[in-house]
Amino acid sequence: MSGEHTRIAVFGAGYVGLVTGACFAELGHSVSVRDIIPERIERLRRGKVPIYEPGLDDLLARNAERLVYTTDVAEAIDGAHFVFVAVGTPPTYSGDADLSAVWTVIDELPELDRRLTVVMKSTVPVGTGAKVRHRLDARGLRHVGYVSNPEFTAEGTAVSDFMEPDRIVIGSFEDVDGDAVAALHSGIDAPIVRADVASAEMIKLAANAALMTRISFINEIANVCEATGADVVKVAEGVGHDRRIGKSFLRAGIGFGGSCFPKDSLALKQLAANSGYHFQVLNAVIEVNDLQKRRVIGKLVELLDTLRDKRVALLGLAFKPGTDDTREAPAFVLAGRLLAEGAEVVAWDPVASADGLTGVTQVPSVAEAVRDADAVVLVTEWPELAELDWRALAQTMRTAVLVDGRNMLDPEEMRAAGFRYDAIGRAAANGQG
Ligand code: UGA
Repeated sequence: MSGEHTRIAVFGAGYVGLVTGACFAELGHSVSVRDIIPERIERLRRGKVPIYEPGLDDLLARNAERLVYTTDVAEAIDGAHFVFVAVGTPPTYSGDADLSAVWTVIDELPELDRRLTVVMKSTVPVGTGAKVRHRLDARGLRHVGYVSNPEFTAEGTAVSDFMEPDRIVIGSFEDVDGDAVAALHSGIDAPIVRADVASAEMIKLAANAALMTRISFINEIANVCEATGADVVKVAEGVGHDRRIGKSFLRAGIGFGGSCFPKDSLALKQLAANSGYHFQVLNAVIEVNDLQKRRVIGKLVELLDTLRDKRVALLGLAFKPGTDDTREAPAFVLAGRLLAEGAEVVAWDPVASADGLTGVTQVPSVAEAVRDADAVVLVTEWPELAELDWRALAQTMRTAVLVDGRNMLDPEEMRAAGFRYDAIGRAAANGQG
């Protein structure tokens, strides 16, 4: 079997599954995408992409002749050499990953008389591959291979992250399966890290934990900057020039959110705890992040005295720009706290919705959100927010108070525009240094 024109079945038509399917189709493979939600499959067949991910629509449209969508397992697997598992693994009440969707896929695999390789894309606890191997063997499917091939794509840049990755990680029990998955990626120029299955699983969890640690670290530095009169933006710049440290993931702000970091940090914490190990650094990373989301409230109280009956405009609902995803978004925590303090909350976002945020009024423009507000909080650094006429906006507010939760705007310019401005860890830039 050559790496070209192979047939791939992708189980799960969410972010990861659709990006994986679209990119493999772009590489020339035939792909069937299977999901259990009939409406989702129907929409995909009609060319409607159910998620907002830049570049994905084009990629799916361009490769339409190599892509089929189905709810039927037999149809998806017909002639497939690989089954990619890209289903959700949300946290359970205990914080462990819920693997029920993964097990459903494994148990749904039909009796097969040919070699096929199951490739795990979903983020799973270390040890999952060994359990799947055991379950396949118990069903007499010894000839079905297993590979762990974690994804490192970020929402908003998922297509380019897949096509131009920093590395491809392939963990296998048998080399032949790892070789086959490596060949599938031919056309992508990236180092390939071959590993055992458990190590590949841990690489995914450790990579995310390292990124989260950097964020909580710089957020704590920001908080100390505030207390001591420094500017975290300058500090991050100066620190990031050190090649051993690097610049990325050193943006202080109101904490990380999204569908991955919060879930994966809990899953790794529980994985360690279930194995009898207390993962101290990770526990601190999680706690710092929880507190960071709430620090803006303290800033608002300082600036407004009380939040009761104050109108607060939240600019941005998505957990980061370039996505409509609001899972674990700091805006939701902020809104909940503000409402609890008796404030009126108005929100704007160019693509994300306030659905599920009872008591919050969503408006279609920044101007409407800001008008008559007592304070504005910049929650998500959507690029259009940098282009606004802030001077004009300040004049429409009841009191021109602005808390920049992402350190996106220039403190001096904002003060010149008439705002009482605060940001995260910018005491020096705010003239308090
Ligand atoms: C993250 C990782 O970046 C991907 O490599 C990984 O594949 C993915 O999780 C996953 O496990 O599936 P994602 O959650 O899409 O991707 O978004 P990021 O761009 O990493 O941002 C995560 C959060 O961290 C956002 O809330 C963002 O605002 C915050 N962040 C990021 C900061 O607060 N500061 C920074 O310097 C960087």
